[in-house]
Amino acid sequence: MTRCDGRKKNELRDVKMEVGVLKRADGSAYIEWGNNKIFAGVYGPKEVIPRFLARNDRAYLRCKYSMTPFSVEERKRPGPDRRSVEIGKVTTGALAPAILLENYPNSMIEILIDVMQADAGTRCAGITAATLALVDAGIPMRGLVSACAAGKVDDEIVLDLCKEEDNLGQADIPLAILSRTEEITLLQMDGIMTENEVEEALGLAIEGCKSVYQMQMDALKTKYGD
Ligand code: CDP
Repeated sequence: MTRCDGRKKNELRDVKMEVGVLKRADGSAYIEWGNNKIFAGVYGPKEVIPRFLARNDRAYLRCKYSMTPFSVEERKRPGPDRRSVEIGKVTTGALAPAILLENYPNSMIEILIDVMQADAGTRCAGITAATLALVDAGIPMRGLVSACAAGKVDDEIVLDLCKEEDNLGQADIPLAILSRTEEITLLQMDGIMTENEVEEALGLAIEGCKSVYQMQMDALKTKYGD
């Protein structure tokens, strides 16, 4: 099967990552993943606001995902909506196990993910960029979180759906893996697949995450050397 953009079923879109792109954030990264263009900025560890969210045994982690009005085909109303709140929440869950939050009690780490252009797979691209921004901020990590989705299009299981495929798609499974421990920190699915198809899609997504991990390491080496 050839895909609409000519990729093989196990082929990722072109991905470019750059670490340390924003001067005023404590850590930052930019990712171009196919036609997705996303910035991630990290602030902290800093004072917790509002204060009642402070924990005396670890840092409070907050991820905010937002899309610019011009990031999607039909102009998006600025400001949070249900989808962006949900993505912020699952992103927090995907990244929290990677961070040594216990090192920073009574403080807060804030991650902002801003989508400039969206073309499906933004939560995975955002998580991948946010991980680089955390490292850039000098926050101690257990490993890197690498994310990638696989899904079902035209009755075929394929890696990394682009928007055109997402529109026709029958299912999509975003996945995030924490390196070193190899724990899965995000697993979602929308659509319908058989048990075998889920297994095949997970296999593809795991391989995709491994390639993403290599690219993250390369981006960090480019910034900081070996
Ligand atoms: O981006 P991701 O695949 O993680 O999330 P999704 O909720 O499955 O959205 C898939 C795609 O739909 C996004 O990446 C955008 O390209 C598009 N979208 C849109 O066109 N308008 C919106 N208001 C939200 C998403």
